[in-house]
Amino acid sequence: MKYLKIIGQQPLQGEVKISGAKNAALPLLASTILAKNSVNIDNLPNVVDINTLLKLLEMLGSSFEKTSNNSICINTSNIHETKATYDIVKTMRASILVLGPLLSRFGHCEVSLPGGCAIGQRPVDLHLKALEQMGAIIEIKAGYIIATAPNGLKGATIVFDKITVTGTENIVMAAALAHGTTKIINAAKEPEVVQLCEVLKEAGLDIKGIGTNEIEIVGTAQKLLEFKDFSIIPDRIEAGTYLCAGAICNTKLKITNVVASHLDAVLSKFEEMGFSIQKDANTITILPAQKIKPFKLTTTEYPGFPTDMQAQFMALATQAHGVSIVDENLFENRYMHVNELLRMGADITLKGHTATITGTPNELTGTDVMATDLRASSALVLAALVAKGETNIHRIYHLDRGYEKLEEKLEGIGANVARFDE
Ligand code: UD1
Repeated sequence: MKYLKIIGQQPLQGEVKISGAKNAALPLLASTILAKNSVNIDNLPNVVDINTLLKLLEMLGSSFEKTSNNSICINTSNIHETKATYDIVKTMRASILVLGPLLSRFGHCEVSLPGGCAIGQRPVDLHLKALEQMGAIIEIKAGYIIATAPNGLKGATIVFDKITVTGTENIVMAAALAHGTTKIINAAKEPEVVQLCEVLKEAGLDIKGIGTNEIEIVGTAQKLLEFKDFSIIPDRIEAGTYLCAGAICNTKLKITNVVASHLDAVLSKFEEMGFSIQKDANTITILPAQKIKPFKLTTTEYPGFPTDMQAQFMALATQAHGVSIVDENLFENRYMHVNELLRMGADITLKGHTATITGTPNELTGTDVMATDLRASSALVLAALVAKGETNIHRIYHLDRGYEKLEEKLEGIGANVARFDE
């Protein structure tokens, strides 16, 4: 196993180029199961989660060629297997994204149940209920979801009880090859869902209501789609994380290859804290605050404040002058970073899903901490950047799941960071 050593309080400055969005790339890769042609995909982040899904698609019979570090050409025409096995799914919950497209193309598939997850229970009941409404027969047997629809899926009106990102994506892909029209009510509106819908529309799918909470899809009755080549949108969470690096060190930092409108809720939180934000076509610059002010935030679905930025803002709250309140509404156990931040000297109390952080600038001290999930780990990196002395972050494989070239990008802005074997 590897760990990261960060020596804090280095002067940061410069620019960071943001990679393609992991959470957009995952459903888009899964969607190529619906393609009749080879598809070129650009701006694909080279991170472990993407390589895991590529491995799964390969196990199913797809082939792909890396045409550069961040682009591939993928062909799914030879898929002959429809089982996503436990050894893959256990390493990445998002493997569930093959369920909708496999079932709509082949009329059967088996996907291992994702099981436990560090940030809470995270069931897939809403995905399954929606597929059943579309005529699927679903059995749970020996830890596997076994789904069949021998005559194909049928269009249906699906009302999601809760807004679910991967649930919406799965049903959009299932509906694409279904017989008849599917309406998804209370659909997710995240930019990653929007890009999936747009790519499918470009591929000839009749889809309306993109980016709204009501999506309507006329299925092709199992006719495969003719995909156009596409480029993955920038990663808004990676972008937000590097802006937090600028904020936590209270320094000027520019990020490039980003869509500022995807970050509205995050940018306005920075402004509330006293930072200034400059935006242009595809860059955002954060400028230091005279005095970092405390804040209140509640995580919610897009366009609200993203749960995937909650941990990073909690790290940032430790540097504010006063008491900040963070309310986590989407996942019940997404506070695994709290204990680690406490070890670094943070003052945080937890009550239910609310965290109260009393900030005192420059009070964190480096120590050994443990990464627990992807975003919790990035909060520890941020805290380490501003802490006195040396922080060793263990179990960094969590970071490698979603942050491309982390050390290279941090070093590029002046951080003192290195990776070592345990
Ligand atoms: C996606 C993102 C993840 C992000 C999350 C919320 C990907 C690969 N992952 O995860 O980074 O943190 O959205 O923005 O895109 N729920 C159910 N039953 C279900 C499905 C969801 O109860 O069948 C609940 C979840 O437990 C959670 C809420 O709905 O409380 C939202 O979860 P969801 O949007 O589905 O998260 P993911 O799609 O797994």
